[in-house]
Amino acid sequence: MTDTPQEKKSDFRYATGDATVPWAAVGEHIWHEDLMGLVKLLVKPAGDEAEFAGAMASFEQALTSLCACGRPTAKLSLGDTVKQLEEEVARFLGSKYACFVTNATAGFQIAHQFADLGPGDEVILPAITFIATGVYPPLVGAKCVFADVDPRTINMDPEDVARKITDRTKVIMPVHIGGYPVDMDPIMEIANERGITVIEDAAHAFGGKYKGRMTGTVGHFGSFSFHEVKNITAFGEGGIVCTDTDFGQYFNQARFCGVDMSEQIENWLYDVKALPTTTGGPQVPGNHSSTEIQAACLLGQMERLEGIIRVRRERAEYLNERFKDVPGLIPAPLNTEEIESTFHLYLLQVDPEVLGADIRPFRALLTEKGVTNIPHFAPLYHFTIYKQLGYDTDAIAQSCPNAENAFWHTFTHLPLYPLCDDQVETMADLVIETANEIRG
Ligand SMILES: Cc1ncc(COP(=O)(O)O)c(C=O)c1O
Repeated sequence: MTDTPQEKKSDFRYATGDATVPWAAVGEHIWHEDLMGLVKLLVKPAGDEAEFAGAMASFEQALTSLCACGRPTAKLSLGDTVKQLEEEVARFLGSKYACFVTNATAGFQIAHQFADLGPGDEVILPAITFIATGVYPPLVGAKCVFADVDPRTINMDPEDVARKITDRTKVIMPVHIGGYPVDMDPIMEIANERGITVIEDAAHAFGGKYKGRMTGTVGHFGSFSFHEVKNITAFGEGGIVCTDTDFGQYFNQARFCGVDMSEQIENWLYDVKALPTTTGGPQVPGNHSSTEIQAACLLGQMERLEGIIRVRRERAEYLNERFKDVPGLIPAPLNTEEIESTFHLYLLQVDPEVLGADIRPFRALLTEKGVTNIPHFAPLYHFTIYKQLGYDTDAIAQSCPNAENAFWHTFTHLPLYPLCDDQVETMADLVIETANEIRG
C-alpha cells in the first residue's frame, strides 16, 4: 500500500481542488497495520484461542491482498460519511438540522452556546440524571437549579420546573431518563411563554416518541448519545445535536472552532465567525469534530435500531408480567397511546412499606446474587462537585422530596440488553427471589 498513489481529490480545507500534486491530508494515512490493530481491538477470542489465532491470520492475509489493490482514504474526519449520517438522522427524526459531534455533552454545549448561556444565568435540570447534564452551566459561571422528579417515571416534574423558574432562567433541560419520554407539553408551554430555551437531554432517547414526535425534537434543541453503553453506538463515543431553529444553519461552525468545513473556505482570515445567539451576544465555539469511522459505524447500527428497541420493549413487558403480582415490586411504566420509550433501562421500583425494607438492602442483595443494577443516576446535588461550587445542597435536597425518596428508598435501573433470553429470565427469577427473601 505504501507505493500506491494518494487519492487525487484534495481535502477542501486546503483549497487546491483536484490537484496533480495532491495534498489530500497533511498527515499519515490509515495503513494495513492500523486496520489490523482495529480488528484486534474490536474482536476478542471467545473460547478456543488456537482457532481464533488461525482465523485472525487468515483475516490478515485477506486484508493484505485487499490493501495491495486498494489505496488509503484521505478523509477521516468530517467528510461525506458524516454528512450522509446527518442527513439520515435528520430524516429519521423529522428534524431540520442534525450535527454529529463527539458526544451528547458536546451537543449540550453547542445548544447552551446558542442560548447564550453565561455568568449569572440559571439552567433548570432534573435532580436525577447523569452528571453530564449538569457540567456545562458551572463551567461558564451559570447555576444549575434542580427540579424535583415525577415519582412514577423519575423524570423531571413540570410543576416543580414552573415553581423554580426565575428571571434568570435561560435554559430548561428535560432528561428522558432510561429512554422514557418526559411530559414535554407543559415544559414547552411555560418555556415559550417566558422566552426560555429548552434543550432535551435525549442521551437515552434516540428513537423514542412523544405525542407523534421523536424525542429530542420537541424542545428547541435535543442531543443524543452514542456512547458505548447506549442503545446504539458510534464505536464507543458520539453525539447528535438537532434543532428546527435557524441556529441549525450554524451547526458546522459551532462544531469546529467557527469554521464551516462543509464549504470551500475562500479566505481563512475573514471566514471564521463567532456564533450568533438568542440574545445577540457572540459566543466562541470549541472543537467537537467527529470521524468518518464513527459515522460509518453509526449508520450501520441505525439499521438495527428498530429491532433493538423492539427486543428491549418485549423484555420490559416480560419483566412487568413477572413482577406485577409480587408484593412490594412496582413494575416499570411502559408505552402508552402518547409515548414510546426506547427502553434503554428498566426502571424497577419497590414499595418499602410492603417490602419491609427500602431499595438499598434490596440492591445489595441483588448485587450479591450477581444481578447488575445501575447505580449512577442519583440526585446530582449529592455529588461533591456541587458542594465544592458552593451550592447549598441540604436546601436543594429539601426542595426535591420525590428525588430524595426515590434515591434513598425506591428505585434502581436494571439492564435489558444485550442479555440473552436466559439471562433476562434469570434476572427476573433473582429479583423475585430477593423480594421474597426480604419480605420473608
Ligand atoms: C442522562 C445522560 N445524559 C448525558 C449523557 C452524556 O452522554 P455522552 O457520554 O455522549 O456525552 C449520559 C451518558 O451516559 C447520560 O446518561
